[in-house]
Amino acid sequence: MALRTPLIIVNLKTYPQGFGDAGLGLCRDMAAVADASGACLAAATSALDLRRYAIEAGLPVLAQHVDTAPAGAHTGTVLPEAAAAAGAVGTLVNHAERQLDWSTIEATLARARVAGLATVLCTADVEATALGAALRPDYIAVEPPELIGGDISVSTARPEVISDSVAAVAGSGVPLLCGAGVKTQADVAKAMELGAAGILLASGVVKAPEPRAVLDELVQGL
Ligand code: G3P
Repeated sequence: MALRTPLIIVNLKTYPQGFGDAGLGLCRDMAAVADASGACLAAATSALDLRRYAIEAGLPVLAQHVDTAPAGAHTGTVLPEAAAAAGAVGTLVNHAERQLDWSTIEATLARARVAGLATVLCTADVEATALGAALRPDYIAVEPPELIGGDISVSTARPEVISDSVAAVAGSGVPLLCGAGVKTQADVAKAMELGAAGILLASGVVKAPEPRAVLDELVQGL
């Protein structure tokens, strides 16, 4: 259940279609598409659903966020070790909707590594991608914030963000994912042509009337 490229990560966020029984159904669709296509599909889930989806959906699951507080007298935090124990193979770090300062990013990457979680560091632009690559996360996912949740993909609206980010990570060996507004096979194919190693997306799959059909199409673009 390890992550590998080319990779599509679907971030379930807190969409109503993305947690509980509905989210499990979506993750099962993802697992079926992964099996049929040979592509690696992973879901970033609510911390509350990690264990269930890891066991019942049969696909790699990631936390959407983990905290840096050590185990002990802390209330309401998501321990990296607890996420790993629940079956997570990795975690998003610094998603645009869960931003962290650089010192917390470094601490989170370190804690996640110790816990055995793969790290997907989210960045907003090329400059942050370059800074992030120096911290050697397992993946970087660049997402222009203004395009997140919209109908125009990063591949169409800001292709230079992908190609320049690919150049920025080149010496580091960190695979570059991209996202924001990705909804079609053409969006995925363009990102891959520009040198991306995969996609991080959400609404294009989670809010789709027929997510399975969208997933079947998206993997063709890898
Ligand atoms: O984590 C993925 C994300 O922020 C992109 O969201 O809805 O534009 O695919 P979306």
